[in-house]
Amino acid sequence: MNITKLLVGLVAGTLSFAAAAQQPIVIKFSHVVAQDTPKGLAANFFAKKADELTKGKVKVEVYANSTLYKDKEEMEALQLGAVQMLAPSLAKFGPLGVKEFEVFDLPYIFDDYNELHKVTQGPVGAQLLAKLEPKGIKGLAYWDNGFKSFSLNTPIKTPADLKGKKLRIQSSKVLEEEIRTLGGLPQVMAFSEVYQALQTGVVDGTENPISNLYTQKMHEVQKHLTLTDHGYLGYAVIVNKKFWEGLPADVRGQLETAMKESTAYANKIAKEQNDKDLESVKKSGKTTVYVPTKEERLAFKKALVPVHQKMESRIGKDIIQGVYKETGFDPNAL
Ligand code: LMR
Repeated sequence: MNITKLLVGLVAGTLSFAAAAQQPIVIKFSHVVAQDTPKGLAANFFAKKADELTKGKVKVEVYANSTLYKDKEEMEALQLGAVQMLAPSLAKFGPLGVKEFEVFDLPYIFDDYNELHKVTQGPVGAQLLAKLEPKGIKGLAYWDNGFKSFSLNTPIKTPADLKGKKLRIQSSKVLEEEIRTLGGLPQVMAFSEVYQALQTGVVDGTENPISNLYTQKMHEVQKHLTLTDHGYLGYAVIVNKKFWEGLPADVRGQLETAMKESTAYANKIAKEQNDKDLESVKKSGKTTVYVPTKEERLAFKKALVPVHQKMESRIGKDIIQGVYKETGFDPNAL
């Protein structure tokens, strides 16, 4: 090899090495809801923060609205490393074998966001996230959405109004039991399929925080919405553990800061978004929004709280008691 060739080769090699060194680390973040939901907005916020804090070393690609994967597929994709980050609903960890997360699905276990945060920001929350590690998953944070309400094409004032109705639920045994306890017929279905199932009558109704109902236009195919606030729906932000631990320590630290800021943002906007979307649902005139009286709400609570005990062996008594201890919930005090 003559000297010129050698030099050209060396320069080219150095250039391509430099180019490779400058390639950003890509984090694919897949989720199933619209961009203008609490989770959608928080995911976009994280992408922006990650870019800022790592000075472009990390590029977070957000895939909203099930455009990359649906519910079940995204969990598998994370474990295989086809995506690096997700924020599935806490109701969707059962199929992964981490049933304890279904404690969040227990009807009326949280009265408000304050009670919820005692769990998500306390030792029980940390204990639950740690259970993901043997599955090759690391839990980074909890992001809020909101409290669920029932919708149907017929009015809902008492628990009996849900009897015999086919209701779409997320893949959680606690939610299955909740619907059965009301005499309804639970139908597990991916989130991306719910609108069509409601429209075509494959199911009669569903339960959602208002932000999910509104952004998927479900209110256009449901005549009645009753603000039961009977259960909570929120998220765990999770990453592929091997990927996360393989990141350069400084980059990982910057991403942890980005996640902290995104979590504060997510939990600040969740209630605002749900309140705003409720106003939009009302304004649309497509569905009748009913606010139950105190007595009606109590009737739902009395009907549904027995689900806690029924699901004790699945979730674990210690976990349920741990939540009660944080929130002060007393199942016997109704
Ligand atoms: C649902 O399937 O209803 C929700 O889990 C969707 C979501 O991610 O909020």
